Order: sequence, then structure tokens, then C-alpha cells
Amino acid sequence: MPHATQHEAEDAVGLIGLGAYAPARVMTNADWTAWIDTSAEWITSRTGIERRRFAAADETTVDLAEQAARRALADAGLSPTQLDEIIVTTDTPEVYFPDTAAFLQHRLGAREIPSYDLAGSGCSGFLQGLDIARSRVMTGARRVLVVGVELLSRLIDWRDRSTCVLFGDGAGAVVVAREPGASRIVASVAGTDGSKTELLILEAGGSRRPITEDVARRGLHRHIAMDGRGVFREAVTRMSAAARQVLARAGLSARELGLVVPHQANVRIIDAVARSLALSPSQVFTNVKDFGNTGSASVPLALCQARAAGRVEPGAYVLLVSFGAGFHWAATLLRASDTLAPRRAPVA
Ligand code: ACO
Repeated sequence: MPHATQHEAEDAVGLIGLGAYAPARVMTNADWTAWIDTSAEWITSRTGIERRRFAAADETTVDLAEQAARRALADAGLSPTQLDEIIVTTDTPEVYFPDTAAFLQHRLGAREIPSYDLAGSGCSGFLQGLDIARSRVMTGARRVLVVGVELLSRLIDWRDRSTCVLFGDGAGAVVVAREPGASRIVASVAGTDGSKTELLILEAGGSRRPITEDVARRGLHRHIAMDGRGVFREAVTRMSAAARQVLARAGLSARELGLVVPHQANVRIIDAVARSLALSPSQVFTNVKDFGNTGSASVPLALCQARAAGRVEPGAYVLLVSFGAGFHWAATLLRASDTLAPRRAPVA
């Protein structure tokens, strides 16, 4: 406990605004049966997912990112010109290059501030971005926007039943600053084990397998190779360990957590992590039933919904924890201020 007190006193950097956006189109499990050999029951029983949002044909990654970013800025009472840095985390960028952050900087009308993407770290990207934002604020940037965004419906192979049913589209954003009213970042941890890259990989498009006519004809540019069971096991192990690590760093026990907002990949993964940490159901937030796995957007989208649902008490400790391709994992512990009190409209 002394560690946490000391850490918090030194560090008032945290979240001063949040926003999220999910596209309007709802794709249900039953809708998937028109495309692939599956059943609504199979998907629900294996994943807990019942529906997900898919972007409209004319929506792109920067459109989703802009909506979430504007909501987070309005929530913080800021205009885009008051930002000092923009970090976008995504595996489904606007174009191959330049990065989505360049498009977003211009779209928002932000000043000519450093703007960059964190790409390729799958679902743990947002928490990695949040950790970088925190350190950037500690070294002088006043306000950093972090946006987790995915438009996975455009990336997935709609004929591959073992992966396509898992994912959805969405965006979530936060503004990080050093302010007394912020929901403070008490501690964060992150890690990588690159020895299992092949368990979850999209190979085509990189130098190993450039997209040729043959690759495109065979649909390999959309082929996500995934060992579902292997990913499941690692996700449970790594998220549980990261949660323990960040709690230990803050000198807290799992019992003292007001809410855990885990990466929303599969309700069975979330339940297993909750069991491993001996959390009660009231301590865990899930929205995977309605949104599926939205990759980098998953944690900020869920955090916004948890706030709208009144699940966070001011003063409570809130644990964010994630895991993704790489494998990468990350956990962040927040001390909730009024920024996480239920005073804003739910996600549209
Ligand atoms: N509909 C019907 N059957 C299907 C479907 C589907 N959509 N997809 C796969 N199957 C079949 C397979 O073909 C296989 O059939 P077979 O046994 O005849 O070969 C069988 O179902 C697979 O069954 P299990 O391996 O028992 O399925 P499991 O209970 O492991 O569930 C799942 C699979 C949902 C992929 C699970 O392993 C999982 O969620 N893993 C984590 C993957 C994940 O979350 N990836 C996202 C990115 S990483 C992250 O966010 C953490």
C-alpha cells in the first residue's frame, strides 16, 4: 500500500474526457448464417457474442475515429486546437500509409502536432497507447488524444467461419492530461511474448508475403490464421497475470477493485479471468454480447459504456486489461474521478 500512495501523490496524470462511437448497422448471429455454415447458437455458446456493429459502405477508419475523438474532446471541454499530440491505435488503418493519425489530425483541425499510429499490436494497442500518452504528458505534452479504432468487417474473410463471427467495428477515445480532476492512472504494466506470433497472424501485405494477384485471388490478403484454443489459453493466462502485476505495483488486492473492464473478445475468456482473480460478477463489465471483439476499440468503448451505465463510483479503482496478437498484453489501473461518473449520453 505505501507504494500506491507514493505513486499517486507523484502522478496526477489521467483521463479528462472519454468518447466512443459504434456504427449504426447491426449484424446479428442469424445474419451470419446467410454467409457461412454456422448457427446463432454456436456463436453465442462459444463466445457470448449475439450481435456486432458493422460500418456502412461509405464509412472508413478515420470516420469512426473522428466521431469518438470529437466526443472525447467535448467530454473534456476542449477544442481540437488544444491538443498537443494524437495517438491512434489500429490494425485496420485508413490506408497502408500514411497512418490514420495523419488523416485524423487534419480531419479534426488540430494544430500541426505530432500524430502517429501504433499498429499491429491487436487488441492490446489502446492500453499501450494510453501508457505512452501518460509518459508523454509526464514529459511535457499537456493534452494527448488516444483513439482505439477498428474497422474489422473490411479486413476479415467473410467465408472463414472460425474468425469472421468474432469481430465488430467501433472506436473509443480518451484525452490524457495532468489535471486535478482527472481519473488518475495509478499504475500500468505491459509485456510481449513474440515466440507465438504464428498463433494469430495476418501474413499477407507485409514483406514476407506481398499482395500479388495470386495472393488476392486466393483471398489470402484477408486470411487471419488463428489457433483459437491457443489464443484463448494465452489470453486468460496473460490477462490474469497482468492484472495481478498492476495490482501488486499499486499495493492493492482484487477485492479492492470497483470495476474491471477487460478486453471484450469472448465472454468465456472474461469469465475465466474473473475466476482466476476471484472477482464477483458486479466487479466485471462486459458488452461483448452486443459489440463482439472490436480490437483496439474494445477497452475504451467498454469503459464509455460502463460509465454511461453508472458502473463506476468516483473514488473507485478501475482496472483495464487487454491481450492481443503478438502476443502483447497490458493492464492499467485508474482511480476514478468525476470524469467516470455517469453524466454523459450512452454510445450511439
Ligand atoms: N460455426 C460453427 N462451427 C464453427 C465455427 C462457427 N462459426 N467456427 C468454428 N467452428 C467449428 C470448427 O470448424 C471446429 O470444427 P471441428 O471440430 O469439426 O474441426 C469446431 O467448431 C471448433 O470447436 P472448438 O475448438 O471446440 O471451439 P472453441 O470452443 O475453442 O471455440 C473459439 C472457438 C470461439 C474461436 C475460441 O477458441 C476462442 O474464442 N478463442 C479465442 C480467439 C479470439 O478471441 N481471437 C480474437 C483475437 S485475440 C483476442 O482478442 C484475445
